[in-house]
Amino acid sequence: MSDAPASPLRQALMSALTLGLFGILGAALVAVTWSLTAERIAYNERQAFLRNVYKLVPRDRISNDLLQDVITIRDPRLSPEPLQVYRAREGDRPLAVVYSPIETPGYAGPIRLMVAVLADGTLGGVRVLSHSETPGLGDRIDEQKSDWILSFAGKSLGNPPLEKWKVKKDGGVFDQFTGATITPRKVVDAVRRTLLHFRAHRNELFSRPTQPLETTEAHS
Ligand SMILES: Cc1cc2nc3c(=O)[nH]c(=O)nc-3n(C[C@H](O)[C@H](O)[C@H](O)COP(=O)(O)O)c2cc1C
Repeated sequence: MSDAPASPLRQALMSALTLGLFGILGAALVAVTWSLTAERIAYNERQAFLRNVYKLVPRDRISNDLLQDVITIRDPRLSPEPLQVYRAREGDRPLAVVYSPIETPGYAGPIRLMVAVLADGTLGGVRVLSHSETPGLGDRIDEQKSDWILSFAGKSLGNPPLEKWKVKKDGGVFDQFTGATITPRKVVDAVRRTLLHFRAHRNELFSRPTQPLETTEAHS
């Protein structure tokens, strides 16, 4: 007795089944890889964020998990998009807030900043999160390119006086860059607006209940 050759219909069905199985396996593999990669990217982003925060807020005095102690605010003077305010506390006492990201239009695109304000209204410091400014001109706002951004630490609305929160070319105290005034002008103004926001909303910023990030849209 010899095996009868499989009918063309059966062969077609088998091929379709095999193809389908490989398709499902492939999709599952992509999904698992994607979720592992997304987790790793989120973890790396959190670590990079914290490394920056610890340069701006005294790490040894923070007693809470500031990544969890966060609210979302909306204020077009600070950013066209909703932004986060992370609260650092020393026991029960307010220690600092970190606004992130403050966004302002630069010369070549949006400039995103992290601005840390200590509880007394003094700047813990400012860092550039992202920008598209011209290499060799506006990109000197980047900590990797120059020390300019470090000059904000310790300043407040009274130091210098409010009317001096400008680049020198406009009568203020902050250096502009040779051949690039627009970028530093925008950054100084964004930091000034952040300090004004803090002065107007300090108590509310520290006392508002934490909002888990995924539900903030519904609450605000
Ligand atoms: C190709 C090119 C790129 C420039 N990139 C920047 C920049 O990134 N940031 C900036 O402030 N100015 C940049 N400038 C210079 C500005 O156009 C402007 O002349 C300068 O900021 C001085 O501004 P002011 O007239 O307000 O003092 C660039 C100019 C050119 C031609």
